[in-house]
Amino acid sequence: MAADLLALPAGECHVWWARPGDATADLDRLLQADERARRRRFAFAADRLRFLAAHALARLVLAEYLGEDPAALRFAAPCRTCGEPHGKPRLDHPSADLEMSLSHSGDRVAVAVARGVHVGIDVEQVPPGADERAVIADALSPAEQRALQEVPSAHRALAFLRCWVRKEALLKATGHGLAVSPALVTVSAPHQPARLIDWQERPAPTVHAQLSDLEPGEGFVACVALLTEANHRVIEHHGAGLLRAAATCRPGEVRGRISGHVEEEMLG
Ligand SMILES: CC(C)(COP(=O)(O)OP(=O)(O)OC[C@H]1O[C@@H](n2cnc3c(N)ncnc32)[C@H](O)[C@@H]1OP(=O)(O)O)[C@@H](O)C(=O)NCCC(=O)NCCS
Ligand SMILES: [Zn+2]
Repeated sequence: MAADLLALPAGECHVWWARPGDATADLDRLLQADERARRRRFAFAADRLRFLAAHALARLVLAEYLGEDPAALRFAAPCRTCGEPHGKPRLDHPSADLEMSLSHSGDRVAVAVARGVHVGIDVEQVPPGADERAVIADALSPAEQRALQEVPSAHRALAFLRCWVRKEALLKATGHGLAVSPALVTVSAPHQPARLIDWQERPAPTVHAQLSDLEPGEGFVACVALLTEANHRVIEHHGAGLLRAAATCRPGEVRGRISGHVEEEMLG
């Protein structure tokens, strides 16, 4: 039953949401050595917890789809620029065709998963009291700057972030990240359905992308990008139960215990 609920068919993208506070420090045991080392390097406890929640959630989610032990999964994230493990993460697995992306901002962490299709997700917190000074014009293409000028100034900061997460989700799906100037990419106007309109690079990249705005709750904006021509159904799940259940499991027990929790949560 649980296996059916957590099936990820081709043609679907699942987005899992949690809060950093859903994780506890003992989930650190699920991470691999380089992840633990990166976590330790954050100066602030809040950043360490956010990192842990995102990376533990990614493991727990992928382990559920695969029917494997989350602590046994291996991830690689080679940076395209320097080779250090801080680039686009991918599951290092002999047979799985699962692609994933993760994002964290403020009180949200997100993991997106798709089968055989590159995926990128971005969530951003809307800074409290953000006004139009929060708009980073350099990050926008000329067409996007014009579209933003038509938005009433009181809504411009939010409109900018809506545009930003669409672009960043796309650049995370391709693995470029911000090594490519986001001003080269044009997405649809903030009040229109998310869509990639143009990517000004020479040679012009042939990118077919599906962009889908997400529902991360009040005060946040988010988007998921899939590099595909085939329309995907995007389904959002709550991952808090997964993190909480895994925290109370002893090593070796995790797998059987969390399946039950997910089932409960998703049926409830
Ligand atoms: C990746 C990037 C787009 C993230 O932006 P952000 O909004 O600050 O952070 P998010 O929480 O949304 O995403 C961070 C996650 O994206 C993933 N990520 C990192 N690089 C990525 C890339 N090139 N493509 C896709 N995903 C990437 C990682 O999982 C990272 O999480 P982690 O640091 O906990 O492992 C941006 O920081 C970036 O491009 N940085 C790298 C720039 C670069 O290439 N520098 C050269 C360094 S040598
Ligand atoms: Zn690097």
